Amino acid sequence: MAEGATARDGGGAAPLLEVVGLRIELERRAEAPVPIARDVSLRVEEGEIVGLIGESGSGKTMTAKSLLGLLPERIRVVAGRAMFRSRDLFALTPPQMREVRGAEIALIPQDALHALNPVQVVGRQVGEPVEVHARRPGPEIRELVVRLLERVHIPNPRARSADYPHQFSGGMQQRALTAMALSMEPPLILADEPTTALDVTIQAEIIALIRDLRAQTGTSFLFISHDLGLVSSLCDRIYVMYAGEIVESGVREEIFDRPRHPYTRALMGAAPRLLGNPERLSTIPGRIPQPSEEIAGCRFRVRCPLAEARCAEPPPLREAARGHDARCWLA
Ligand SMILES: Nc1ncnc2c1ncn2[C@@H]1O[C@H](COP(=O)(O)OP(=O)(O)O)[C@@H](O)[C@H]1O
Ligand SMILES: [Mg+2]
Repeated sequence: MAEGATARDGGGAAPLLEVVGLRIELERRAEAPVPIARDVSLRVEEGEIVGLIGESGSGKTMTAKSLLGLLPERIRVVAGRAMFRSRDLFALTPPQMREVRGAEIALIPQDALHALNPVQVVGRQVGEPVEVHARRPGPEIRELVVRLLERVHIPNPRARSADYPHQFSGGMQQRALTAMALSMEPPLILADEPTTALDVTIQAEIIALIRDLRAQTGTSFLFISHDLGLVSSLCDRIYVMYAGEIVESGVREEIFDRPRHPYTRALMGAAPRLLGNPERLSTIPGRIPQPSEEIAGCRFRVRCPLAEARCAEPPPLREAARGHDARCWLA
């Protein structure tokens, strides 16, 4: 779709995806469950590229996995809904979820090096969603796989599709996973740090590919990253996540030009130049609290340079400017 106002303002139609009040918990044997995501609400409009950023351990991956019923053992969605094309993803039966997964919503998983099956050739895996969902004849699937591998710039795609994952570099494995996500042309792709393992050149290619896809097919993305430079160049709207909570959200210009939450500002302060410094998020003083740590009030309070007495009360997520929310008493 065109870079129009509709997707960015929300238009009038229902969002493609709308998550409301999501709570994810880790169950423990003898102790109370640990909240991993707390009251997370977010939406992705048709044709929108939405960023979800925050330090490692914020709950970004668990949020994405919850949408596809892929949470690990003992981690569960305990509250909230995720409306996708007028169905609640959290209410789907396992067979219904299998129909959605890969065909309507695809995940490009974070860890390319462990996501592929080591004992199956790459081409077979890339073609798996089509095999499962579209049940097309083998030769047709093999041709499609070659085109998909070509599209993500894998050289000699016909020959390479017969390789095993270990014969691919990390960057090529990541591109193969991207090809797999594209195979059914799903309307929504959840891309979990899809470029982290890649060198800068290939990273730029993947980003260009995401942009092209959106332009050509209107594919929407939830783009998860800890890389502010990438998010600022790619995303229309951004959610900032900290310690299991959304602490700020808004259109790109609002977030990058007028950040309201001290955490978002700290992220940017830790990114003196927005591009090319992978270490940038490690430079905020202190560390992100473990989900099990009880912190009364604002969860960023202990690291916040502006914290004051009222921050011992939990701040609500409030509108700070039009379409720009922040979870901070000072915003
Ligand atoms: N399999 C698991 N078992 C227990 N805790 C987990 C598991 N996976 C992740 N967690 C915890 O959930 C929290 C959120 O993790 P995650 O969603 O991976 O964060 P992010 O993607 O933002 O780095 C972290 O505190 C992490 O330690
Ligand atoms: Mg993650």
